[in-house]
Parts: sequence; structure tokens; C-alpha cells
Amino acid sequence: MQNTPTYAKASEGRQNLSEEEKFWGPKYGSIYPALEESEPYQKLLAQIEEFVDPIQGEKWVDLGTGSGALIDIIWNKSKGQISQLVALDLTDVMLEHLKRRLPFLKPEPREGQIKLIKHDLSKRLPFEDEEFDGVTASLVLTYIENHEGQKGIEALKALFSEVNRILKTHAQFVWTTPKYKVNFTKVFLASWKAILNPKKLKNLYYGPAILRYALKIQKKGKKGDYQFLPEEQFIKILENAGFENIKVEHSFAKQAIVFSSTKKQK
Ligand SMILES: C[S@@+](CC[C@H](N)C(=O)[O-])C[C@H]1O[C@@H](n2cnc3c(N)ncnc32)[C@H](O)[C@@H]1O
Repeated sequence: MQNTPTYAKASEGRQNLSEEEKFWGPKYGSIYPALEESEPYQKLLAQIEEFVDPIQGEKWVDLGTGSGALIDIIWNKSKGQISQLVALDLTDVMLEHLKRRLPFLKPEPREGQIKLIKHDLSKRLPFEDEEFDGVTASLVLTYIENHEGQKGIEALKALFSEVNRILKTHAQFVWTTPKYKVNFTKVFLASWKAILNPKKLKNLYYGPAILRYALKIQKKGKKGDYQFLPEEQFIKILENAGFENIKVEHSFAKQAIVFSSTKKQK
């Protein structure tokens, strides 16, 4: 029998969804995987892949996993030798996408080797201190408006401290964010090959639909609801949260920043 992943919480009815779940869930969640076909997103993944270094026996977690592209990366880079890989997201729709891609992983995961958790990042992370050898979080942390009673930049600082808490000393934290004054239209235009792919006519719908959501995200960034800060400010916040060896690259049609860092010894 196919090994099934641990799925921490069953799907829920739509009527009890929070505002964030409504945004990321049913509609955006249903079109999000099409983004994986675009060149800027592929390049973003390639940069993450270059940074992450998961090895045999380690335990990693991907926060805000979405349709799970980073799970593939961590799995493949560790050659499936990772002891456990945890994928966390707010919405059932995204976790369902991830569930569907798991049977294609090679080698096939053992029972429990990949664990899916439904959790809201505005709450304390449901993990022990120093539980992980690596944390990834792509295009998510700067979208979290509240964390444990903190708002705005304070929420982001609190989230980074949480990431630091769950990492072992010298363990890796790789994450990405839209840049300061992001312009997602540039990502859309750089995705033209995927959008105009004659073999994928549905992308003619998905491309503009994803752009509409991206523009809503961009607006929230401009208003200061989301924390798309200047790079130097992110670096300071990371250092203050206990990270060092900070490396920075730009990707996603130059609209995203990719950070790699490690947890400083206390
Ligand atoms: C832009 S997508 C990024 C997905 C994936 N990391 C990637 O790079 O493709 C943002 C993801 O963060 C999740 N998310 C948004 N707010 C969240 C929250 N408060 N708690 C947990 N996940 C959240 C969304 O459900 C969505 O899957």
C-alpha cells in the first residue's frame, strides 16, 4: 500500500474560515499551483535550492508551504534521507495540493516521514525549542499581520524569534519575501512563456487571475499591512533575532529577496 502522509487536521467546512483563510484558501488556493510553471517562480525555487542544505537524519520544516514546491526541493536535496520533513500551512486547500504531490516523491516517503500540519502563523509555532535543523518559509512570513498579540513589524520580529527558538544552534533559516516597493506586474510579464503556452491554454486564465491576487498583496505591502521592508532593515531584524551568516540574493523577476542565515550560538 502507498505510504500516506500524516495529515494533522481534516478539511473543515468553509463557513468557519478566518479572513486569512478566505483569502488564501478556496479561490487563490485553487489557482496557486499554476504559478509553479512560470519562469520567475522556477528561478526563485532554484535560488532556494542552492541555499538549502538538508542532510541525512535531519529534521526540517517549511512554513506556509503552499502547494509544496519547497517540500520537493528539501526532499530531493536530502535524497529522501531526511529524518522528518514538516509542512505547515493555514489552509486545507494548499495542504491538499501538497498531499497530491507526495506520491511522486522519489524515494517514496516512509510512514510519518513527511508530516502536514494545519496551523496559523499568527500563533506560537507548535514545536519544541531547538527541534529543527532547518526552517524554510517562502513568500509568507512578511504577510503575517499579527503574531501572539504583536502587530506589523513587531509581529515579524516575534516570528523571527519563534523561528530562532525552534532551530538548533548553527541550523539554517532560508526564507523569501517580496522586496520593498514590489511590482508584481513585472513577474507577470516575465511569465509570458508559461501564460502563452499553447499546450496549457488554461494559463491564459490562471496568469491574470494570479496577478489579480498578487496586486492585492502588493497593495497591502504599500499600506504597511504586510512588511515588505528595505533589505537592510530585514538584515537588522534577522541579526537582532539571533541569526548570522546572512546571505542575500534577488530573484522572481527581481521582485523577491532570498535570505539564507544560521542561528547564532547563544
Ligand atoms: C504566496 S503563498 C507561498 C507558498 C509557498 N511557500 C511558495 O513559495 O510557493 C503563501 C502561503 O502562506 C500561507 N499562509 C498565509 N497566511 C498564513 C498564516 N497565517 N499561517 C500559516 N500559513 C499562512 C498561505 O495559505 C499560502 O499557502
